[in-house]
Amino acid sequence: DSIPNYSQNTSPISEVSKASLTTILNKNRHYYLDGKVADYIPELGKMDPKAVAIAVVNEKGLLIGAGDMHKKFTMQSISKPIALMVAVMENGEEAVFKKMGYFGTDKPFNHFSNLETMGKPLNPMMNAGAILTTSLISGDGQVPFDKILKLLRYITDNPTLDYNETVYASEKETGHRNRGMFYIMKNAGLISGSEEQLDNYFRQCSIELTTEDLAKIGYFFAQQCVRFDGDQRYKNPEISKLIQSQMLIAGMYEFSGEYARTVGLPSKSGVGGGIMISVPNEAGIAVFSAPLDAHGNSVVGYHMILDLVRHYNLGIF
Ligand code: DON
Repeated sequence: DSIPNYSQNTSPISEVSKASLTTILNKNRHYYLDGKVADYIPELGKMDPKAVAIAVVNEKGLLIGAGDMHKKFTMQSISKPIALMVAVMENGEEAVFKKMGYFGTDKPFNHFSNLETMGKPLNPMMNAGAILTTSLISGDGQVPFDKILKLLRYITDNPTLDYNETVYASEKETGHRNRGMFYIMKNAGLISGSEEQLDNYFRQCSIELTTEDLAKIGYFFAQQCVRFDGDQRYKNPEISKLIQSQMLIAGMYEFSGEYARTVGLPSKSGVGGGIMISVPNEAGIAVFSAPLDAHGNSVVGYHMILDLVRHYNLGIF
């Protein structure tokens, strides 16, 4: 067995090897049969259910990975923490969280009944709060989206990152529930602009990246917003704490509580099949496999994370 076991109270992330990641991947890839590729956005239904990847950016900023690491998939909800960072950099945390809560959740990602009862979204990780977050980024038309893309290109050091036009069109065409939430929030005075702002949310969900890119984002939030190569241009310990705390309590939707118990790391999933994980002050991890469980989280991805975290004792608790 090429996966060592660690029981001491340290996180030996530097011991993670390509061989151990390959073992973890091969041990868990069969779980794809237990999940279902998202097809509520028709274009997503075309994903290969067998593609699988895992990557780690360790404490030195070095990338180690296994599987289909360079296969592209759409970020979907994993774009929400990046949009939150842009909105908070522009407006300040107080102004953003006047309009939404810091609440955890026992509800699915597209839940919104609390817009009526509470008068604002639960948190920026679920759709209502995320749509509102993106609307708080200044600029006309596509400008707010371009700011999100610019930050992502910086974090991944990948200037080729972009959104997939076909997925975007599919999201826009079928996103009636998101459109409903947008107008409820507009009616409540939380959103002031036009539906172009909702288009930017659909665009950010349609950004394509690889498992390698995603591990670099996990590293960035784990390391106080310092890039994997040490670049400190966006260094911001407070934003990194804010985003990781939101990922911990709501990043996996209604599964977040159980996930905090079993994995114990700030993580963000997307219906494209990716999960981005931060090991605070240490490393970034990413997994990808398209078939999802009933909560909208990657089944193989979850099993691979469980194994990695247990073998290397990575959980924060
Ligand atoms: O808002 C939507 O329907 C999607 N474009 C994004 C949602 C998502 O990824 C939820 N995830 N697990």
